Amino acid sequence: MKQFKFSLVLVVLLSALAGCEKSDNVSTSDAGKPISSASCELVSTVDNKPLAIKVSDADTPEAKEFLSTCINPYTKKFATDAEAAKTGRKVFTLNGCSGCHGGKLEGIMAPALTKAGGQGAFDTKWVYAKNATDKGMFETISAGTPGLSGGVMAIWNRNLVGHVGDGLTNDEILRAIAYIRTEYKGDGEKTWLQ
Ligand code: HEC
Repeated sequence: MKQFKFSLVLVVLLSALAGCEKSDNVSTSDAGKPISSASCELVSTVDNKPLAIKVSDADTPEAKEFLSTCINPYTKKFATDAEAAKTGRKVFTLNGCSGCHGGKLEGIMAPALTKAGGQGAFDTKWVYAKNATDKGMFETISAGTPGLSGGVMAIWNRNLVGHVGDGLTNDEILRAIAYIRTEYKGDGEKTWLQ
């Protein structure tokens, strides 16, 4: 009985202590929320596993912004700045994207990216619904696809193992995406401009 009482006291004491500790933690984390901890959690379109793409010194300010917020700063810029959008078109044509998707993004041996309509079931809608977001499209171009439309796309991001040739930088992929957005003619909402 004596022992029981002692444990009871101990339990009460311990929970009081735990309570103190808890409130301490809250106040410190509230006071010093580090901004740098915000990051865009990228996952593969192939298997939904996390992608090993982290901010590095080699990244442009735009790429750094995307990797921390999941927002592609080029998308809104290119929508109103045709000259700037050409830098995204350059990435698209110089790397052979047009060989499969077409010089007008109309789709040749791969789905159309304008979504204006065409022969294939995927010429009017995204093969992967997540590609309606810049984060989703970045994941698709970076790490490739599982082949839902009948063909697969390779890994393009040079930060990932197995990429095509020299691969593309984060900045180049973001520019290509923003350019693809300017060519969208589908009837879905342009959610990326919101
Ligand atoms: C060898 C042919 C080929 C090349 C080159 C290629 N792609 Fe693709 N791409 C595909 C195929 C095939 C798909 C559909 C994949 C699937 O169904 O899994 C696709 C899918 C896509 C999608 C998703 C389309 C949707 O409707 O959801 C985007 C965006 C895309 N590619 C962009 C690019 C960009 C940017 C490049 C150049 C860096 C590129 N592709 C180069 C074959 C290619």
